[in-house]
Order: sequence, then C-alpha cells, then structure tokens
Amino acid sequence: MRNIVAGNWKSNKLMVEARELMVEVSKGVSVDGLTDVILAPPAPFLSALVLEAAENKSISWAGQQCSGYEMGAYTGEFTASMLHSIGVRSVLIGHSERRDKFGESEEMVAMKLRSALDSGLTAILCCGEDLGERESGGHFTRVMEQLKHALHGVSETEMADVVLAYEPIWAIGTGRTASAAQAQEMHHAIREFIKENWGETIAGNTRILYGGSCKPSNAAEIFAQPDVNGGLIGGAALSAVDFLAIVDASDQSLRETN
Ligand code: PGA
Repeated sequence: MRNIVAGNWKSNKLMVEARELMVEVSKGVSVDGLTDVILAPPAPFLSALVLEAAENKSISWAGQQCSGYEMGAYTGEFTASMLHSIGVRSVLIGHSERRDKFGESEEMVAMKLRSALDSGLTAILCCGEDLGERESGGHFTRVMEQLKHALHGVSETEMADVVLAYEPIWAIGTGRTASAAQAQEMHHAIREFIKENWGETIAGNTRILYGGSCKPSNAAEIFAQPDVNGGLIGGAALSAVDFLAIVDASDQSLRETN
C-alpha cells in the first residue's frame, strides 16, 4: 500500500507565494516515489494551481474543507462537487481547527463527509483528542466517538475513498509531537475499529495518517510504525525543503518494509 503525505497549508500564503511553493514541491517530488503527495492550499488558489500543475502527475490536490450542503443559497460555501469539477480529488473533513474555531459539530462533519463521498472525492477524515482527554485517559473513547459519528452509514465500497488522519489536538502546531508509540497505539485502535465495522480487508487497505508537529526530524520514526501510513503536515508543509524531506522519509520507510 502506498503512503500519503498531505500538506495542509491552512490559512497561509498569498497567490505568488503559493505558486512558488507549488513549483518547488512539484520539482522535488519524484515520479517513481512510493508516496501519494497531496497539497491542500487555501481555497482561493486551488483552481489556478490545479491548472498550472496539470502536467505534473506526481501531486494531487485537496480542499481544506467543503460544504455539507449541495448547491444552493448558502453564501460563502463551496460544495464538494465544485471542488471535484476543478480537478481536486480529495478534501479534509473535520479538521480540529474547523471543529473548534468554526463550530463544526459531529453532525456537520458527517454531512460534509457524505457530500465529499457523493461527489467522488476522497475524504481525509481528521480525528483526535484534546490535552484534557489525553491526560484523563479518555483519548480512545473520544476518537472512536468521532469516527462512529462521521462514518455512520458509510458503505464498504465507499470506505475505499476514506483516509483517516489522527491528529492529537495538543500536538497540532505546538511543536509537541505524539511519541511514535502513542501514534502507533491510536492508529492500531483505529484500524481495529475499521475491522470491527467493515472487516479485515478494508481495515488493511485503509490509510491512517498521523498529523501534529510532524517534521523532518521525527517523520522517519513515526512512519516506521506499522499502522502509520503517512502524514498530514501543517507547519512543515509551508517549506518545500521540509515537506520534501518528509515525503522522502515516507518513501524510505516503505522501502525498508518492502
Ligand atoms: P502541524 O499541523 O503540522 O502544524 O502541527 C498539522 C495539521 O493541523 O494538519
């Protein structure tokens, strides 16, 4: 199975800088790599960047979120089908910043995931506990609750278009990473959850990414864990050099296990 390394640029960069970053990343991604490289720039830049990079088959594009509604009178929203129509192939769903800062409830996350799948996008579903939940030992319960809500009603066939991203909130943008053992333990629990609900084959084929202060210095150790299939990268994705080093670490981890 190929890994995924996805760069979440969040609300950063102006158009000129975004183009520069895209060009540098595209130049550095090797065509025969073992990792699917996905970039998630701010929504206003997506259309232009997708067109400019059309010849480059080694990167693909993601939205950082999408509407949970279909087209209609929803000022400011953009639908999953709109993303698909400009050549975007995946979308982040339920990132903790969307949940915490923009009030996305479990119900909204589930609607957005449904919309993404119905529009033919791969949904990169984010989950993760906050510091209080981790310290009180409630982290597994929290993450499983998020998955249960968001994935309710998702069929076996649709699971092929679901990627999971475990992102402990206390590790996002804080410089404090989950240890490789903490990541592996949660990833294993997530895979077991998938197994219980959709069976062993689907569990084995589902990619589970780690996110939260993943950087060149810790990527290799995290990617070496058996249930980690790549990363969702925030801060380090804003530097082409760092992001490409993380893609290399992912390729290297697959070469070592194959
Ligand atoms: P970070 O962000 O790498 O800056 O911690 C990860 C994310 O929020 O996706």
